Amino acid sequence: MLTGSKIALRARHEEDIPILRTELYDDVVNAARSEGRPWRPITPGAKDSRLVVDDDEQARVPFSVVELDGGALAGTATLWKIDSHNRSAHIGLGLLPSCRGKGYGTDVVAVLCHYGFVVRSLQRLQIETLSDNAAMLRAAERNGFVREGVLRSSAWVMGEFLDEVLLGLLVKDWKPDPSV
Ligand SMILES: CC(C)(COP(=O)(O)OP(=O)(O)OC[C@H]1O[C@@H](n2cnc3c(N)ncnc32)[C@H](O)[C@@H]1OP(=O)(O)O)[C@@H](O)C(=O)NCCC(=O)NCCS
Repeated sequence: MLTGSKIALRARHEEDIPILRTELYDDVVNAARSEGRPWRPITPGAKDSRLVVDDDEQARVPFSVVELDGGALAGTATLWKIDSHNRSAHIGLGLLPSCRGKGYGTDVVAVLCHYGFVVRSLQRLQIETLSDNAAMLRAAERNGFVREGVLRSSAWVMGEFLDEVLLGLLVKDWKPDPSV
C-alpha cells in the first residue's frame, strides 16, 4: 500500500467493483469525459479491464484509492502505457462524486508520482485531460506538471469536439511531497 496525506493506493478488491461500476462507469457523462472511447454499460460480473485487474499486464498498474481515515473506497488511480525503454508512463484517476473537491485528487497525483519515479524508476510522467477540467489541471500543476501543449478538438465528448491539455513532469523537476 502507498500512502499520501489524505488517501492511500491499494490493490483492487472484489467488493470495490460494484461501487466503481455504479458510481463512476455508469455515469455516462463522467465516463465520456474521462475515457476517450464511447460509453457502454459494464455488465455485472464482466471481466472488464476498467474494473477487473489482470496482474500479468505489465504496461498498466491499476489501484483503488481509499481514504486514509477509515479506509473507505474513494476511486481509482492508474499508471498506464508504462514504457520501460523510454522510462515514461501516463497517469489517470477518477474519484467517486462524494470524494471530489477535498484535496484527494492532488494527493493521488503525488502518490502516483512517488510510485512512478521512486518505485518504477521512470523519468517522465504525462497526463492528458480536457481543457475545461479545472480540478484535474490544478491537481497536476500543484504537483509540478507543466502544460506542454493543447491537442485541439482531440476528444469527442457528448456531441462536440473538445480540446485536451497535455501535461508532463520530469523526475529532475519533481519535488517530492514530504507526506508521501
Ligand atoms: C479531477 C479530479 C481527479 C480532481 O480531484 P479532486 O479531489 O476533486 O481535486 P482537489 O480537491 O485535489 O482540487 C484540486 C484543485 O482544483 C480545485 N478544484 C476542485 N474542484 C474544482 C472544480 N469543480 N472547479 C474548479 N476548481 C476545482 C481545488 O480548489 C484545488 O485547487 P487549489 O489547489 O488551488 O486549492 C476529480 O474531481 C475527479 O475524479 N473528477 C471526475 C473524473 C475526472 O475528471 N478524472 C480526470 C480525467 S483526466
